[in-house]
Amino acid sequence: MTPDIDTAQSLVQTAADTLRARIGDGARVGLILGTGLGKLADEIEVRESVPYGEIPGFPLSTVESHHGRLIAGTLRGVEVVAMQGRFHLYEGYSAWQVTMPVRVLATLGVETLLISNAAGGMNPLYRRGDLMLTTDHINLQGVNPLTGPNVDAWGPRFPDMSEPYDPELRATAEAAALERGVRLQQGVYVAVEGPNLETRAEYRFLRQIGADVVGMSTVPEVIVARHHGVRVMAISVITDECFPDALEAVSIPEILAAAAEAEPTLTALMGDVVASLA
Ligand code: HPA
Repeated sequence: MTPDIDTAQSLVQTAADTLRARIGDGARVGLILGTGLGKLADEIEVRESVPYGEIPGFPLSTVESHHGRLIAGTLRGVEVVAMQGRFHLYEGYSAWQVTMPVRVLATLGVETLLISNAAGGMNPLYRRGDLMLTTDHINLQGVNPLTGPNVDAWGPRFPDMSEPYDPELRATAEAAALERGVRLQQGVYVAVEGPNLETRAEYRFLRQIGADVVGMSTVPEVIVARHHGVRVMAISVITDECFPDALEAVSIPEILAAAAEAEPTLTALMGDVVASLA
């Protein structure tokens, strides 16, 4: 449920005020540490770590592997604030709850948001373990975090989506990948609600409508970040190969192994992008 406009504003303001008192508001770079970026948290020189439960109005993380805390500190000399643990629609959170933390980060002064996620690869040139820089997205989640009355102080009623993924940040990631000799695919992410993976017919459909990978996160956060005018970059870890005519039953251990395998590379790349923002 989206709260009414005054409640929404006051929830975000209260959370931001609480955080400002604990971590300050000097960070211009926000991170959502999804799949493949767990270890990036270890590289942050942590100044303060705030469990979501201590931030008024924040949803609580239900997925066990996600810690559910906000980390403030320095990464490669850049002040960052990182979400360790994110919220998914498939957990039962509303689009408002999934994206409320992004509004809080924007209110704290974050101008750039870097995101990672897990996704299934549908482009036949992609392989399990590959990384994909998102160039664009398709929202097939059936909900939109911006429905309801618009808070004009946050952003426009009809936000532009001609280029949700910042070209400059993408160029930086591309250059970093080249420099490190890392293969970085580039393509379109389609977001579905989940939690089940797709049928063969669905993968065929999603590929035909122009997507390269499919996942269950990120797009709501990107929409809200763009609403606030926050610059966005997102990288997916391809955890499974979703080729409809050669589809194998999904194996969670294989998905986790692919994510773990890609982690060092993604951590390094993301660190390079952060460093470029100094
Ligand atoms: N479908 C949807 N979400 C996913 C997948 C998938 O195949 N793999 C990882 N996240």
